[in-house]
Amino acid sequence: MTAPRPLSSHRATALKGNVDIPGDKSVSHRSLIFGAMAVGETVVTGLLEGEDVLDTAKAMRALGAEVTRDEDGTWHIFGVGTGGFAEPEQVIDCGNSGTGCRLIMGAVATHGFSTTFTGDASLRSRPMGRILDPLAQFGTRSEGRSKGRLPLTLIGTDSAVPVEYTLPMPSAQVKSAVLLAGLNAPGHTMVIEPEATRDHTERMLRGFGAELTVEPSQGGRIITLVGQPDLNPCKIAVPRDPSSAAFPVVAALLVPGSEIRVPGVSRNPTRDGLYTTLVEMGADLTFENGREEGGEPVADLLVRGSSLKGVEVPPERAASMIDEYPILSVAASFAEGRTVMRGVGELRVKESDRIAAMEAGLQANGVVTSSTEDSFTVEGRGIDGVPGGGTVTTHLDHRIAMSFLVMGLAAQNPVTIDDARPVATSFPNFEPLMKALGAEMG
Ligand code: S3P
Repeated sequence: MTAPRPLSSHRATALKGNVDIPGDKSVSHRSLIFGAMAVGETVVTGLLEGEDVLDTAKAMRALGAEVTRDEDGTWHIFGVGTGGFAEPEQVIDCGNSGTGCRLIMGAVATHGFSTTFTGDASLRSRPMGRILDPLAQFGTRSEGRSKGRLPLTLIGTDSAVPVEYTLPMPSAQVKSAVLLAGLNAPGHTMVIEPEATRDHTERMLRGFGAELTVEPSQGGRIITLVGQPDLNPCKIAVPRDPSSAAFPVVAALLVPGSEIRVPGVSRNPTRDGLYTTLVEMGADLTFENGREEGGEPVADLLVRGSSLKGVEVPPERAASMIDEYPILSVAASFAEGRTVMRGVGELRVKESDRIAAMEAGLQANGVVTSSTEDSFTVEGRGIDGVPGGGTVTTHLDHRIAMSFLVMGLAAQNPVTIDDARPVATSFPNFEPLMKALGAEMG
């Protein structure tokens, strides 16, 4: 790996322009994995070419699929069919990507060979027991470091039994890993999720021709998949990533006089909790031209600089904005009054412990915060009241890095992050895109 790259952002005057957000990370990983499990050629446009997704493309090649890219950015995946993966020659290195790693673990679990997984320091510290436990019910074994951490070897089974699994935590990664394992198991695999999480796996598996039903159940869902389908190859136009859009959107809200337009922001209810919360805080957001793109409901978003007020974010909204709490905490710092985020314990096991990382960074920039194991409170200082001037440790976490670069655009003094490299995992053109709107970073 290259050396850490510190970066500072400076107070901006009004941000203006149109913002072309790159492809959705969740949909991009799934396009490659499902494409590799279909029979024949899947064609993908708008794929996110961030490091996380490129690591998943490498992994699909290592498992026997052919994956190529045209000069214009169109990707082709020649799939091997359900149950057709081959034992990889090498260790699968998923880099920084929890999603890539956990979904691929599910995909190989019901194949009769062994796969060894590793990743960067962040991924090697993250819990994998949440994936290994349900996979063990299919008949898969594993051998790794303590607490199920990487590097670890998954010993797949070729005589899988179907599984009925109730998610112990709201996690689309765990849900998806179970469904992916269920693809090569006989009979019906059932996942019961007490709270709805992002539903890209369900939408896309149906698109690939799998027989999958979703029934609502007491605030959650019961998902049933018929195993061993022949997946048909697809043409996929990846929608833009609402979690990436969140950074320029919040920047434009916080810098007075800003006006930006963000085409094609997802309105998928399993992903739009941040936008609901920002509207409650008083954000001037207008959604126009609602339509469907790549199988997802989207709209164009017009954002104008706004005065925000603190709010209580209810725990039942957490799953629909789980990746957006770092940038919401920055918005909350510039709001009038207190913002309380409840039911956010899952933030402690993301690319970093995001509650601890945000608290340390906000405090270094003059914002008062407090936390419990699963809640986080920010005392807002008003639109012109955040001192800034601090240096923030990003812990190899892209969303911590981008959140504090946004903070520096509206704070009284520049904000510095210790390392901008992780931004490339999910939003490789973040810096030029923000500079084109008028942001100063260097
Ligand atoms: C993702 C699920 C979420 C999210 C991650 C992407 C996915 O993780 O944080 O960035 O694509 O399934 P959890 O399932 O652990 O909540």
